[in-house]
Amino acid sequence: AAQLNELTKKAGKLYFGTATDNGELSNTTYRKILDDTNEFGQLTPANGMKWEYVEPELGVFNFSDGSVVANLATKNRQILRCHNLVWHSQLADWVTADTWNKENLTAALIQHVTREASHWAGQCYAWDVVNEALNDDGTFRNDTFYNVLGQEYIKIAFEAAAAADPWAKLYYNDYNIEYAGPKSIAAQNNIVKYLKKSGVRIDGVGLQSHFIVGETPSQDDQVANMEAFTNLGVDVAITELDIRLDLPANQSNLAQQSLDYQATVGACLQVKGCVGITVWDFYDPFSWVPGVFTGQGAADLWFGNFTRHPAYYGVIDVL
Ligand code: XIL
Repeated sequence: AAQLNELTKKAGKLYFGTATDNGELSNTTYRKILDDTNEFGQLTPANGMKWEYVEPELGVFNFSDGSVVANLATKNRQILRCHNLVWHSQLADWVTADTWNKENLTAALIQHVTREASHWAGQCYAWDVVNEALNDDGTFRNDTFYNVLGQEYIKIAFEAAAAADPWAKLYYNDYNIEYAGPKSIAAQNNIVKYLKKSGVRIDGVGLQSHFIVGETPSQDDQVANMEAFTNLGVDVAITELDIRLDLPANQSNLAQQSLDYQATVGACLQVKGCVGITVWDFYDPFSWVPGVFTGQGAADLWFGNFTRHPAYYGVIDVL
């Protein structure tokens, strides 16, 4: 039967992909699906490229975790999305613990982005340069970078990434920017337009798309929002799609989940500047959802017994 990436490419997109993680790769049934490029044409490391692993001490770099998925993508000839260079979470303790001034934090930020992006330069189709910089009301998140450097830190990060990896598409990535509202407006104005006005390269906006069954924005709303970004001259991508439900899964919530996946994938298909779709892993036991959202789960396309969700067939239907 026709599969996810195969059909997505026939529909004119670059890839249908998935996040994966080092500890998952020894599961042989999982691996058969992950390595099947008709199913997945793109990989994102779910953790290994994050700051706490890459630069655990100031100036001490370790690329071994991140290279596991990067090298697998190369071996399988899958597109690699690199995730991420700057984020308030899973940040090394030394960044949050130290007291900084503008000068020394700028230097540390530039060093981090430069060393990390240079290391995988040429291997990444895209980099999530800055992840989750905004609050839901559209203001900037008060993390160490914003507190010390203000909005400038966005510019500093993208400039350093552009210099270190001229081949990678440079993305801003966030959640709750998949539909109209103050956060999406802020991403348009204070990230995309701000960088472009400053003459700094930004190529795309990643719509994480961690949705909830029955509360997923409609296809039309998602299309309109994607176009608000693409009209600014950037690509969009669905970067972390999963759609969680209140456990247990049953016929009715799984049927709604299928409709919600269809609306989301369908929106990307409708928008020329939407380059591809990535699910935030495909196998329920490896999903981050149950660990973070109590009582919720079954957010992925494969159940624990490796049968497929109705949503898998729903997605195949719209592709
Ligand atoms: C998650 C990973 O999947 C988990 O394994 C980890 O414990 C926490 O982070 N938004 C992001 C991703 O940009 O990096 C997060 O990934 C999920 C939310």
